[in-house]
Amino acid sequence: MRNYSEAERTAVRAEKLKIKDFRSFESLELEGFERVNVICGENGTGKTNIIESIWLFTGGKSFRPAKDNDFIRYGQKKNELNLWFEAGGRKQEARIETDEKKHAWLNDILLKSPIELAGNLCCVAFTPSHMEIVKGAPESRRRFMDTLLCQMSSEYIITLRRFKRILLQRNAALKQVFDGMMSGDELSPWNEAFIECAARVAAAREELCRELYSCAKDCYSQLSGGKEQLGIRYCGGISGVAREEAVSTEKIKEQLLEELVRNHEREVRCKTTLVGPHRAEMQLTLAGKEAKLFGSQGQQRSCVLALKMAEAKLLEMKTGHIPIVLLDDVLSELDSRRRSVVLNSFENNQVFITCCDADRLNITEKVNTIAL
Ligand SMILES: Nc1ncnc2c1ncn2[C@@H]1O[C@H](COP(=O)(O)OP(=O)(O)OP(=O)(O)O)[C@@H](O)[C@H]1O
Ligand SMILES: [Mg+2]
Repeated sequence: MRNYSEAERTAVRAEKLKIKDFRSFESLELEGFERVNVICGENGTGKTNIIESIWLFTGGKSFRPAKDNDFIRYGQKKNELNLWFEAGGRKQEARIETDEKKHAWLNDILLKSPIELAGNLCCVAFTPSHMEIVKGAPESRRRFMDTLLCQMSSEYIITLRRFKRILLQRNAALKQVFDGMMSGDELSPWNEAFIECAARVAAAREELCRELYSCAKDCYSQLSGGKEQLGIRYCGGISGVAREEAVSTEKIKEQLLEELVRNHEREVRCKTTLVGPHRAEMQLTLAGKEAKLFGSQGQQRSCVLALKMAEAKLLEMKTGHIPIVLLDDVLSELDSRRRSVVLNSFENNQVFITCCDADRLNITEKVNTIAL
């Protein structure tokens, strides 16, 4: 995937936000955003709700577990969000309305699905829920990789969708073999299709992990003051081993085929596919030890922050959009040295930061304060 040159990159900037019956807000209109915007207020005043409302314009799901109608203010039947922003050097406008379902418009054109908003408002969010990337199950780390890859490449969206569909079909076929409705040999079309998509997913994720590592390791060193090193490796669900060197998609296919042959009987017995990207792990280590098990709270937080800084850099390089950065409950918990490392790393991005006490942030440049 090519990198956009610095001259080609343009900043994404939110300009105005209008909210009606979203979460705790009956109606709210915010404008005059600066590069740095601080949302401050006591607990429960709606700071995270504002961050969430901006995030929804990325086309993604909320970072909090939520059904569509959780976004509607209690007692109401629908809500409406409007965002005016600049992206790709163009002024744009997006609208999201939720009644029983979510509907989205971009520049007054109704989209088939709100997911189609993706790629227009490029954002990176770091909220307490994102600590799951380190603390959670391997699934959380796979989701992190896939979400980022989907933002970087529409080809990956298609490959991943195909992979998931074929995985389900292959599992159903394995069940048929188990039930004696199909012979083991008849699995081969499923195996071929599976290997084809699985290898592409694995190759993309491996490359992503290498790129994330090369960006995130320096961010982590700065955050930790160089005390310990961050490690990121992709363990492809193929015998659980990580590769030091990049290998071709063809090589990954050969290895997958070997694994499928070797695990055939076990897969039939379990009626499920045991090898492949759906079992893969993005291994995060600090000083060589697993971050999830051995990292302190502060180290785990720095690890996620370093990943988020790398995410912003990669999105900028691969999409040409300098993303908006949404930081919920992050800066107020860092000491001043770490805080300036974070702010310096996002010096070209528009940032929205929440905090309970704006004075503590001590930001030198002009700040737009949104007091709730
Ligand atoms: N659908 C809804 N209708 C009405 N209120 C809601 C809805 N969903 C959430 N809320 C309320 O919104 C309020 C503000 O939530 P939010 O998480 O944004 O607060 P916050 O300012 O981020 O607080 P904290 O400082 O504790 O993180 C909460 O009291 C919550 O109960
Ligand atoms: Mg909050």
